[in-house]
Amino acid sequence: MEPLERGAPIPDPLTPYLEVDRTQPRHECWVTGHMVAGLDGTAAIHGRVGALSTEPDQDLFRRMRQIADVVMVGAQTVRSEGYAPMRLSESARAQRQTRGQSEMPPVAVVSRSLDLDWSSQVFTAAPEHARTIVITCAKADPVRLAAAEQAATVIIAGEERVEPAAALQALAGLGYQVVLCEGGPRWLGELVAADRLDELCLSISPMMGGDALPVSVAPPGAGIAQFSLKSTMVADDTLFLRYEAKPAAAEGRS
Ligand SMILES: NC(=O)c1ccc[n+]([C@@H]2O[C@H](COP(=O)([O-])OP(=O)(O)OC[C@H]3O[C@@H](n4cnc5c(N)ncnc54)[C@H](OP(=O)(O)O)[C@@H]3O)[C@@H](O)[C@H]2O)c1
Repeated sequence: MEPLERGAPIPDPLTPYLEVDRTQPRHECWVTGHMVAGLDGTAAIHGRVGALSTEPDQDLFRRMRQIADVVMVGAQTVRSEGYAPMRLSESARAQRQTRGQSEMPPVAVVSRSLDLDWSSQVFTAAPEHARTIVITCAKADPVRLAAAEQAATVIIAGEERVEPAAALQALAGLGYQVVLCEGGPRWLGELVAADRLDELCLSISPMMGGDALPVSVAPPGAGIAQFSLKSTMVADDTLFLRYEAKPAAAEGRS
């Protein structure tokens, strides 16, 4: 064991995240999860994430969208957090264009039920060049599917449910190479179980006592995924951890 010692302040906390090489994904495209947890691992307080996120975390969360070609979220997070199209500063948009990225990443919502509010901002306020994407499965309700097609670009990725690999293959096919997954825990758990999470940016907030919802909910039968710690930062009392998936087979703790 070794202590992690505080070093010189980092002028811009986004820099270490911008410098990560995401050009060599293990699969179709690179998937980064960005989550915040309490000290007890909770992912929400009274069904929302806001109270869990400290000021430096909120700032980094918004700015991390700069790395993304597309921002992927589970439908329950869209329903409970009231998602809107991404907004980036002028300088972030200019930097993206220098890096060969589109001006703005679209949002991609994963849903089987398609029980989504098509009049909400995430659908109605998205610009044409970053039209919101809905990823669903072939068995989705046909009436809702027709409504989804009016409001968004629809991807069918799976029969009974969205298969993470099929969803990511479809996104990669559309040219999205870096997928930023902002949760929620159930969809993130699906990505982990399918071995599709390349990177996890996890903020640890200095609080306890939220909902009984961990940052990732493993579906039944999922294996254990292993990660390597790549970088750490601290601001006030919030820890910012960046992990990358270990390619080697998982081994349990004994
Ligand atoms: N701590 C954090 O960083 C963080 C981040 C995001 C969210 N949150 C919190 O997490 C909570 C919501 O998370 P959650 O885990 O309950 O939900 P979620 O992961 O956001 O969404 C779950 C929904 O996604 C769809 N879905 C997931 N897997 C699917 C599959 N394989 N095929 C088809 N659809 C699939 C389903 O939508 P349908 O029901 O429409 O079929 C499912 O109900 C909220 O309280 C939110 O505030 C916390």
